[in-house]
Amino acid sequence: MKLFITGGAGFIGSNHIKLLLATDPDVSIVNFDALTYAGNLENLTDVATDPRYRFVRGDVSTVADVMDALDEGIDAIVHFAAESHVDRSIESAADFVRTNVVGTQVLLDAARARKVPRFVHVSTDEVMGSLDDGGFFTEDSVLAPNSPYAASKAAAEHFVRAAMQTHGLDAVITRCSNNYGPYQFPEKLIPLVIANAIDGKPIPVYGNGQQVRDWIYVDDHCRAVDAVMRKAATGSVYCVGARSERANLEVIRTILDAVGAPHSLITYVSDRPGHDRRYAIDPVRVESEIGWTPRVTFEEGIAKTVGWYRDNAEWMAHARSGAYRDFYEKNLAWRETSSADAHS
Ligand SMILES: NC(=O)c1ccc[n+]([C@@H]2O[C@H](COP(=O)([O-])OP(=O)(O)OC[C@H]3O[C@@H](n4cnc5c(N)ncnc54)[C@H](O)[C@@H]3O)[C@@H](O)[C@H]2O)c1
Repeated sequence: MKLFITGGAGFIGSNHIKLLLATDPDVSIVNFDALTYAGNLENLTDVATDPRYRFVRGDVSTVADVMDALDEGIDAIVHFAAESHVDRSIESAADFVRTNVVGTQVLLDAARARKVPRFVHVSTDEVMGSLDDGGFFTEDSVLAPNSPYAASKAAAEHFVRAAMQTHGLDAVITRCSNNYGPYQFPEKLIPLVIANAIDGKPIPVYGNGQQVRDWIYVDDHCRAVDAVMRKAATGSVYCVGARSERANLEVIRTILDAVGAPHSLITYVSDRPGHDRRYAIDPVRVESEIGWTPRVTFEEGIAKTVGWYRDNAEWMAHARSGAYRDFYEKNLAWRETSSADAHS
């Protein structure tokens, strides 16, 4: 199977690429990524020379970049690339519209032009807004985004649907809950808490810390995306979650205990504007129709993740200092290979 994976230098995309290369000898992957601040090729050093893998630097919102890189013969586009941090979208939403909305539309047009048989759109449960204490998100939930990030992802879903209805494009959509695991950029809650706990630094908690998220270990999400890509009927939408609801404060305390750091590091800060109260997925449809189930419990996943960040202090130091951004420039062979291939 020949896959064109966007955003493969980010957190979930890089885990996805590594999982596929480790489990499917017949897969070949083009990793198409703009290398924004969230793109980190240090995530992929161990597969960089695998003949089944190729990196191309490009922007999903630039038609020429996408058309140059998207060869005929691709079996599926798996679209992870996005601006993904809610706080950044509150500061300024323009990049979110450009990448998440315009970029998705550019890819949909390119998929049609190159006759790509399947488009996998990786969306998020945040498009469905916020829940009170009862009930779950399902595939039938109304789209009701509350942050500019979620609004841009919801808009992208509408363009995917429109491409299916208008042009007959074969597409499937996944809406997953909050991911955690190796290689997550330390602006997000779990890696930030782990890093600060290891360093003995204060841990900022928004508001009262009672916001509930439904956590999933990143490999479980990646296995779901892959299974949906291979098995789902055209036009399907699947909600993906691991039935692991936890309040943020509980997550933070679990991590502090796993690291062996004191709870006194917790520091309450003003709440995020428009902060969603609760996300929770009912994954019964993806379980019953696709046969996917999560494998990693929250406790196992947190232990693995804390262990990974402890063992990869250099990765974290580079992520925090910005040194990872030099990696691409310092490894010119990658750039020359990728740009030559992209234009061949
Ligand atoms: N992280 C989560 O908890 C979560 C949960 C559900 C769904 N998702 C979705 O999964 C996808 C991946 O999330 P993530 O956490 O890995 O994000 P991330 O921010 O870690 O990675 C995003 C990647 O996209 C690339 N990118 C950004 N703009 C680009 C552009 N214009 N052109 C090409 N590449 C570009 C970045 O360089 C980076 O490598 C996103 O679509 C996100 O909405 C994330």
